[in-house]
Amino acid sequence: MAITIIARHMDPQTILQALGQIAPQLDVRIWPDDGDTDEISYALCWKPPQGIFQQYANLKAIGSLGAGIDFLLKDPQLPAHLPVTRIVSQQLAQSMFDYVASCALNYCRQFDLYRKLQQDNLWRPLPPLLCSEVTIGIMGLGELGRFVASKLLQLGFKVVGWSRSSKDISGVECYAADAQLSPFLAKTQMLFCLLPLTDATEGILNRELFIQLPQGAYVVNVARGEHLIEQDLLWALKSGHLRGATLDVFRQEPLPDEHPFWQCDQITITPHCASATYPQAAAPQIVENYLRLCQNQPLLYQVNLKNGY
Ligand code: GLV
Repeated sequence: MAITIIARHMDPQTILQALGQIAPQLDVRIWPDDGDTDEISYALCWKPPQGIFQQYANLKAIGSLGAGIDFLLKDPQLPAHLPVTRIVSQQLAQSMFDYVASCALNYCRQFDLYRKLQQDNLWRPLPPLLCSEVTIGIMGLGELGRFVASKLLQLGFKVVGWSRSSKDISGVECYAADAQLSPFLAKTQMLFCLLPLTDATEGILNRELFIQLPQGAYVVNVARGEHLIEQDLLWALKSGHLRGATLDVFRQEPLPDEHPFWQCDQITITPHCASATYPQAAAPQIVENYLRLCQNQPLLYQVNLKNGY
């Protein structure tokens, strides 16, 4: 039995090294030079080529090297009978919180507006916004969303949350399902999308949603590019309804040179770095899952493929 790492846009060597440090006895290989593919039982993946799993006759499980698994679900040949795992770690959650908190504090202290004033050499103090005056809306209350929501409370923000099924998080006003989306949006001054990408959430950040946010709201997408209807965001920004947006994820990554987002001064762009897997933090659960696989035991952090998360 062996593990293969099939990673594109992520360095497989760093995963290999982290696994080697804690479990040197494991046979871990890197695709495409992974030898006899019949020996592979666990495939650890990040954006693998579609159809790749057909090459592995004795595969027993597939593991996403990130929190999301949407790139696996896009593969029409994904073997439906195999368990799929993802990475769940304190590091991913903390790193996401650090990113979200930076955006939220920048919004309160109006750094985006000061940047515009600076372009015109304008010294103009703006009325300060206290964290306690700002309501943050978190869409998606899974592992990351719940953690982020609770920690934002500790910074003094008011926090509301929305998810497809109802959730209970101390101090967070939780809304659920389509029927409660509008009241959630009406309260949200700063919206963070942390939803999983599914058929139900694709394109959810659209014109109809933006107009239900209060005038001057700010939108942050740290989930997947496909959640956003790009033209609708540009419209909402240009019309002045939204004050700005920070985008970490895009329909096409890297974001193409000619993309209009680059030129829009109301948009802050980061290159899908809000929360990336640290190999050292992920290695213990990968090893644990591999040992469980060898002993035919249930795996940790298994995804429900029907739900898509
Ligand atoms: C990052 O986007 C992840 O899914 O971990």
